[in-house]
Amino acid sequence: MCGIVGAIAQRDVIGILLEGLKRLEYRGYDSAGLAVIDSESGDLQTLKAVGKVKKLVDKVAAHPVKGQLGIAHTRWATHGVPSESNAHPHLSDTEFALVHNGIIENHNELRNELIGKGYRFASETDTEVVVHLLHEVCKQQDIDLLQAVQLAIPRLHGAYGLCVIRANEPDRMVVARSGSPLVIGVGIGENFVASDPLALGQVTDRFIYLEEGDIAEVTRDSIRIFAGTEEIKRPITRIKSEIDEIEKGEFGHFMLKEIYEQPRVIKNTLSGRISDRHVLEEAFGVKSKAIFDQVDNVQIVACGTSFHAGLITKYWLENIAKMPCQVDIASDYRYRNIIVRPGTLFVTISQSGETADTLAALRYAQELPYVGRLAICNVATSSLVRESDFSLLTMAGREIGVASTKAFTTQLVALLLMSLVLGRRNGLDEESEAAYIRDLHQLPDIVDKALAQDQAIQRLSIQFADKHHALFLGRGPQYPVAKEGALKLKEISYIHAEAYPAGELKHGPLALVDDKMPVIAVAPNDELLGKLKGNLAEVSARGGKLFVIADESAGFDDEVDYQLVRLPPVPEVLAPIVYTIPLQLLSYHVAILKGTDVDHPRNLAKSVTVE
Ligand code: G6P
Repeated sequence: MCGIVGAIAQRDVIGILLEGLKRLEYRGYDSAGLAVIDSESGDLQTLKAVGKVKKLVDKVAAHPVKGQLGIAHTRWATHGVPSESNAHPHLSDTEFALVHNGIIENHNELRNELIGKGYRFASETDTEVVVHLLHEVCKQQDIDLLQAVQLAIPRLHGAYGLCVIRANEPDRMVVARSGSPLVIGVGIGENFVASDPLALGQVTDRFIYLEEGDIAEVTRDSIRIFAGTEEIKRPITRIKSEIDEIEKGEFGHFMLKEIYEQPRVIKNTLSGRISDRHVLEEAFGVKSKAIFDQVDNVQIVACGTSFHAGLITKYWLENIAKMPCQVDIASDYRYRNIIVRPGTLFVTISQSGETADTLAALRYAQELPYVGRLAICNVATSSLVRESDFSLLTMAGREIGVASTKAFTTQLVALLLMSLVLGRRNGLDEESEAAYIRDLHQLPDIVDKALAQDQAIQRLSIQFADKHHALFLGRGPQYPVAKEGALKLKEISYIHAEAYPAGELKHGPLALVDDKMPVIAVAPNDELLGKLKGNLAEVSARGGKLFVIADESAGFDDEVDYQLVRLPPVPEVLAPIVYTIPLQLLSYHVAILKGTDVDHPRNLAKSVTVE
């Protein structure tokens, strides 16, 4: 969602703040702002701009400000439209400035109370109540900023990562975390704060991860952390700079770069986790064996693209591990009355490891009698990994494009490894496991071959650019693949796209089919191919335009009405991974033709850290 950067130094911090915001822009991008305090003049100055960070950079160039203490923010609107007045930092008089990620649920009640005390609100945001509340607490009790935050926090309901500065305490910033990630960057004679260490890669490689409920006071040469009012210590972690990964290189967009990285990152996700014949179970960590030994059912919870990875895993668990599996959307799961069957493993899937609903589901699951909680995640230091019993990291590297691509296929690889580990305990014999492992060893090359269809897909994409709707069809595990294809298309090209299990066609969606409705079918040469062909004939008979991603040996060549993308033969178990690739490329090329902002689609954010 939104991004926070803060800095306190002897030097001017404007450059640090702006560079940090640029690095965080992938999270949210409808407006940006900063506030700085200049130690010479003592003035608190703010600048804000609607749109991308570049707009704020231009504004700073036109109206230079400087300061040795500053906070900055990129916003993704929740309460109130994107506008300068709703952009952070929010002020109380010209004394306090605050940036916030998350949602303050009781903001109406606090707003009324503060209006009653004479505070004037300049924005429609929930955040603004916090800055006035801190002002009020300081005024009432004549205390400093740290004490004010400690006293005010219990009054806030909801989720927050916040950072606040005060003009007459120009030597410190105070931060608090509950439900929204925050790190402190440790420098030499200067310190920093951010919602993601990526923002600070240019100034430090040493970080302190704040835990839930932590409050910290950061000065140039000290960092004091409190759990409530009790001072505590948190370890410093060294993280190597990931600057290279946030360059687009020869590619026009991060999304395309990330699509093309898939053979390499799939290899990385497999590396050290499989031998010639087995999954190396130790990769799941020391605690995993005792937990896996008890599992005879799996509950998966995730959001968005990660949820689709869960839906595919259900087929693998049934086929390979002969195990039942339930897959739920996190925002739904977290509010249900969940009944846990004995022997159930709880699995979350998340690229970021910070998705609010997935984290809340994990926290709910901590109270329930699961045999263990496993996170399949791309960020080693994320809240999800830290709060789970064990984890398997996807080695996708930093994913910047909002539309998830390489994170999804590496999640599938990790989940296939999990299915094999559970299968081994439930009757999967050594030879069968070895056959799956042989298939996995081939996967990076097969993905490469799927990428070689790029130009053919680009040519097809021309036929989508003027369409308003599209229908994606698949059967069995290809149905979630079709869902992922539809999600990609709608996310970045804004074409309304729906996915259906092909067998459901007659129960409604066939009524939508005419010559203006492109229908995209996912057709590997599996045991459901015959059934799928029957469904496609129904579409063809109604004048529907068919685009079929098919195994080259699936016998579609004689179908004159069908436009084909041919893929090489793929082992059945790997088909969901490989058939995803052409769908990613299709959505990318359609978006390019439509001229949308591929890496930053409107209204969306990379990491959804609010409910
Ligand atoms: C957002 C992103 C999606 C992602 C989803 C879940 O909606 O735009 O790409 O799939 O969040 O995110 P997670 O980090 O939990 O996988």
